Amino acid sequence: MQDEINNTRNAFEKDLALVTDAKLLENVRVKYLGRKGIISELMGKLPALDSKAKPVIGKELNLLKGHIQKELEKKKEKLSLSASVKERLVDITMPGILPREGRLHPITKTLNEINDIFISLGFKIVEGPEIEKEFYNFEALNIPLDHPSRDAFDTFYIKEDVLLRSHTSTVQIRIMEKTKPPIQAIMPGRVYRPDAVDASHSFMFHQVEGLMVDKDIKFSDLKGLLDLFTKRMFGEKTKTRFRPSFFPFTEPSAEVDISCIICRGKGCRVCSHTGWLEILGAGMVNPRVFEAVGYPSGAFTGLAFGMGVERIAMLKYGIDDIRLFFENDIRFLKQF
Ligand code: PHE
Repeated sequence: MQDEINNTRNAFEKDLALVTDAKLLENVRVKYLGRKGIISELMGKLPALDSKAKPVIGKELNLLKGHIQKELEKKKEKLSLSASVKERLVDITMPGILPREGRLHPITKTLNEINDIFISLGFKIVEGPEIEKEFYNFEALNIPLDHPSRDAFDTFYIKEDVLLRSHTSTVQIRIMEKTKPPIQAIMPGRVYRPDAVDASHSFMFHQVEGLMVDKDIKFSDLKGLLDLFTKRMFGEKTKTRFRPSFFPFTEPSAEVDISCIICRGKGCRVCSHTGWLEILGAGMVNPRVFEAVGYPSGAFTGLAFGMGVERIAMLKYGIDDIRLFFENDIRFLKQF
């Protein structure tokens, strides 16, 4: 009998060691503690023992039964613990779920860069309406009635005398109407022209214009300012070139080129093998503009300039089609 008890204990330890889930645990419990289990079978043998052995073996059997119950209980706890840990376990080797991150549109980014440069030089940002009167878009800027750009084909008209501004020079007039010099401002914003859309034209685009008016603004100020701007925008090695040009609202006027940022002036496809890229229109404010806003004649001089933001972004980021900016294709936009 004693041997049987010992064997049962050993067999139970072995069986228990193999238990890995609740079902196996139940099988072991039934095998040992069930109604027809090993323990009750051994108990059944007690009455046949002699009166000396009976209490000793009985006690041993009770101890074994208690031991088995305790061990089963312990195992049960362990199993349920590891099951819930498994449920909660995070596989840290799995790739995470990245939230899609928003970012600034390349035009906004470029605009911010341009603005930041001029803000650091003391310029204020001024905005104006996109729907304008002819006076602000043309007359006050010395663009007479018979000037070709007054033609309905070059400007979107909403109704007579009301149009979508074709440049942000309109804001120059609005500032000067309200403010006495000194003036130092840039005017970013959308402009509209009825151009056929292609890789380099859009009916809507963005401009930044600049205006400085004071008692003694000189052409050399304009040159120095724009040279500094292009170097900050495109890199220290950038050279500028001023070519004589014509704008009704500036006199003298210039087109400003930068040395090609792709080939550094050697000549390539982007600069049509000239080594130069046109990026700005500029000049000294025409006295007739001062007249239109009511400044006393001869009292002030001023400089003005204007640039297309899309063109600058295209050059800076190597984009060859203006339409990409407006198609909202995330594959394009997420590159910036
Ligand atoms: N307004 C001009 C344009 O739209 C740019 C410009 C601004 C040129 C100021 C000279 C001075 O093209």
